[in-house]
Amino acid sequence: MEACIFDLDGVIVDTARYHYLAWKRLAAELGFELTPEDNERLKGVSRIQSLNIVLEIGGIDADANERERLAEKKNTWFNELIAKMEPGEIFPGVKALVSGLRSSGRKVALASSSKNAQLVVDRLQIRDLFDVIVDGSMIEHTKPDPEIFLLTAERLDVPPPNCLVFEDAEAGVEAALAAGMKCVGIGSPTRLGKAHLVLPSVGAFTAEMLSQLEKTDQSK
Ligand code: BG6
Ligand code: MG
Repeated sequence: MEACIFDLDGVIVDTARYHYLAWKRLAAELGFELTPEDNERLKGVSRIQSLNIVLEIGGIDADANERERLAEKKNTWFNELIAKMEPGEIFPGVKALVSGLRSSGRKVALASSSKNAQLVVDRLQIRDLFDVIVDGSMIEHTKPDPEIFLLTAERLDVPPPNCLVFEDAEAGVEAALAAGMKCVGIGSPTRLGKAHLVLPSVGAFTAEMLSQLEKTDQSK
């Protein structure tokens, strides 16, 4: 394993909750409730795809202009939430894991579908943790398409099979596997069961797990 690639929202920091709060507020304004279960479908996919799913759940029809307006509204609320973020909000164990990986000679990258990823990175003051940062503005197809991870591997100059991805979204796990990478799912084993390993948090990942994954056949 020459490189580790981290998703941002829900893996490094709990911004997945801020996305949910903003979508929930939009749904409430449109007259329906968005459940945590519904929210799982929004993880990892682009802003406009998330909106399309939200509108589908609410049974709401809207033309392209209206969709644009609603997505913008959600993004304004999301930005209000992240503007208040503090560096202390980074999940426990993330910094120690990244430093350990880098001092063992591995490269570390961030790969997020979010167009707000650079803002979050600045709020958390974590730019120096990564060799490469790829965000939603640099790709055409979001997860579950493997594009973001393949682009990250290319920028890291590491072959995809030598990359390990940390992901909390079902779409993200699928994208990592489609890229031919190994994947650690962060969250529910029921939802993320396709990953090579599922943990409750990044902080639970150990050096032993890394060497175990290095021995695992790519085909799982
Ligand atoms: C992903 C989140 O990281 O970014 C999704 O998991 C979100 O929930 C997507 O929709 C796009 O984010 P943004 O910030 O560009 O609206
Ligand atoms: Mg995520």
